Amino acid sequence: MINRPRRLRTNPAMRGMVSENRVEARHLVLPAFVADGIDEARPISSMPGQFQHTLDGIKKLANECAEAGLAGIMLFGVPKPEDKDANGTKALAPDGILNRAIREVRDEVGDGLLVMTDVCLDEFTDHGHCGVLNPDGVVNNDLTVLLYAEMARIHAECGAHMVAPSGMMDGQVLAIREALDDADHDDVAIMAYGAKYASAFYGPFREAVGSSLQGDRKTYQQDPANAREALREVFADVEQGADIVMVKPALPYLDILRQVADAVDIPVAAYNVSGEYSMVEAAAANGWLDRERTIDESLLAIRRAGADITLSYWALEWAQRQAR
Ligand code: PBG
Repeated sequence: MINRPRRLRTNPAMRGMVSENRVEARHLVLPAFVADGIDEARPISSMPGQFQHTLDGIKKLANECAEAGLAGIMLFGVPKPEDKDANGTKALAPDGILNRAIREVRDEVGDGLLVMTDVCLDEFTDHGHCGVLNPDGVVNNDLTVLLYAEMARIHAECGAHMVAPSGMMDGQVLAIREALDDADHDDVAIMAYGAKYASAFYGPFREAVGSSLQGDRKTYQQDPANAREALREVFADVEQGADIVMVKPALPYLDILRQVADAVDIPVAAYNVSGEYSMVEAAAANGWLDRERTIDESLLAIRRAGADITLSYWALEWAQRQAR
């Protein structure tokens, strides 16, 4: 036999020499939740190990992320239930929880960690949809885009390095780019959720942000059956000025991630979402999976499929483990 692939697997040095991909802390972003009106961190039962943080807690967490060498923290705000309304007013209010958190976290970390923000209304609306509704209950695209543009401008004002519109409204990236530039925030980058699917894998996130969504998001998020449509969405975002495009979820959509990475010449991010996290945590808690090996393999698979940047609830723990 001439070809014996096993020769290159004989010992750790040999395997290390031919290893093609590696996860690095500087490519990882931790999504994190900050809640209004709580005085201590509240565990998210659908995502064991994750919390809704207080303002003080999120600052401390951001410091730990910087220390561990992560790229950034992606902030999600959780308003008090009584502060939610049909238009998501608190998303634009100076004392809205997300806006306060952005200011405080940016003050705390400076440029030592990238402060990224979720630009979307679902955490702030009482109906749980990502935008404002027409009388028939369908999300009004163009009105919602106006609100996103204003929200992004406020995030930039509060100190965000990067805004991440996740609502899948048509034209959202261009509207945000123009609003940022008009307000002299041309340095603030846009990470566009280019290909975002209407996925069951977001299930555990609903509890994380206290969302009360009835129904689904199928009129704005993509059909899991479609691949070519992802490229159309991503190209539209590139044309509208996205600096980074994202594919979400990650593990069930590695084919999409690879196609996007091959198709665009800007950095590509992938979001290892709540359901991907909680499945592994639940199986590990039952002793069915080796938790750390499964986490490492998950992050590596996402990287191998083409992610330059990965958002993961395991980001901090993973980076801290490498440092040990
Ligand atoms: C929308 C948003 C969602 C997630 C991130 N941004 C929820 C949704 O689209 O239904 C899900 C993230 C996750 O599941 O980890 N603001």
